[in-house]
Amino acid sequence: MSNPLQLSMVNFIKDAYIIVEGRQKANQFFIIRQGKVLISKEVEVVAEEGGNILGPGDFFGVVATMSSHSHIETARALTDVTLISVTRENYGTLIERNGPVAMKIIESFSRRMRYLDTALTRITQKAQGTDEDPNHLFEVAEYYAKQSQFNQAFYAYYQYLKFCPNGMHSDTAKMRMGKIKAYSKAVYLDEPTDQFTRTYPKDTMIFAESMSGKELYIIQKGQVKISKIINGNEVLLALLKPGDIFGEMALLDDRPRSASASAFEECTLLAVNKENFARMVSTQPQIISRLTTLLSERIWFIYKQLANTLLSDPVGKLYDGLSIQLEKNRILIKAGESYTFDFGPKELIHMVGLSKAEGDRALMELIKNSKLKAMDGRIVCTDIDEISKQTQYYRKLQKIAQRRNEGKKV
Ligand code: CMP
Repeated sequence: MSNPLQLSMVNFIKDAYIIVEGRQKANQFFIIRQGKVLISKEVEVVAEEGGNILGPGDFFGVVATMSSHSHIETARALTDVTLISVTRENYGTLIERNGPVAMKIIESFSRRMRYLDTALTRITQKAQGTDEDPNHLFEVAEYYAKQSQFNQAFYAYYQYLKFCPNGMHSDTAKMRMGKIKAYSKAVYLDEPTDQFTRTYPKDTMIFAESMSGKELYIIQKGQVKISKIINGNEVLLALLKPGDIFGEMALLDDRPRSASASAFEECTLLAVNKENFARMVSTQPQIISRLTTLLSERIWFIYKQLANTLLSDPVGKLYDGLSIQLEKNRILIKAGESYTFDFGPKELIHMVGLSKAEGDRALMELIKNSKLKAMDGRIVCTDIDEISKQTQYYRKLQKIAQRRNEGKKV
């Protein structure tokens, strides 16, 4: 027998703060039963789709609760409100009992991810989202062909021709495919409809950005790389591991793939189509719980990256970028504690969207701090408390500058 569902009802009076941004250890989120709630962020980088005022049936606090991070927003009661409180522990039971609520949460998360992803690309890479245009498949193919990564190139040319058989680049695509065919071991060029467990050799594509997609994948073995081609460069979004789920966005909102997925090493995946997904939701609710947690972690990370774009001092951006990574990896900040990041200066500069020249200058400044150095392509810090202090200093400076600007405007 499943656990009894113990959801508690809580009341807040008008103007009460329900959650406060930055507060640690979020362990419950809320579904509004009655009344209105205002959601705000200390730094509002992009306007939220759907607005900031929530009403009955809406939910808030899910991202922080399900990703076990600090709250990313503040919620204040605009009227007297009655809320249903859901802890991380009873979310699983909630799904078992109330699939539609869980589906509503992941569908809205998927939309939010796509929206925030596009905003972040626009701000950091100064590029418009092109992932909805099938012509972008040709750019993806060209990028990999130039890098002599023929498996990925062949796959993307093939998909381009499938979507745009008479497109403006179709002759070039056919010619290039002829040339590289012998060197490519691209697999599953057309998604098989009867084979759900699939093995992908290292460096082959699972799908390319801009394709339509009707399946999500659960990784059973190996690592999967999620990346995007932006302004002719490959931007790494995530490296996923066994147990992770990806490809849910196109499945949930019927829009093109927001990024490409390829096998970082040989991997085995379980492909789940819409029909099987609906069945899984009712028979294996833990998949929804896992998906909610994954989406929450991704959204939490994107919010932090968006807040980073507001810092105008490049050195502040680098410190903040390091702080985000520490928090993402749940590293407890203790004075005198050392830490080796799993990336180097080049990656850090790219993560925070600085140009090479600007980034190199800021980095020179950063490593004047004796507690930070670059070693074997990795950033090493001998006292992580220093990163935290410096980040707070730069964030404070930014706030003062912002207030001064606002004062001038008035
Ligand atoms: P979909 O858009 O169907 O295809 C690409 C997938 O990559 C997407 O679903 C998500 O599963 C995943 N994805 C997209 N953006 C990110 C990101 N910023 N971090 C991690 N995974 C992502």
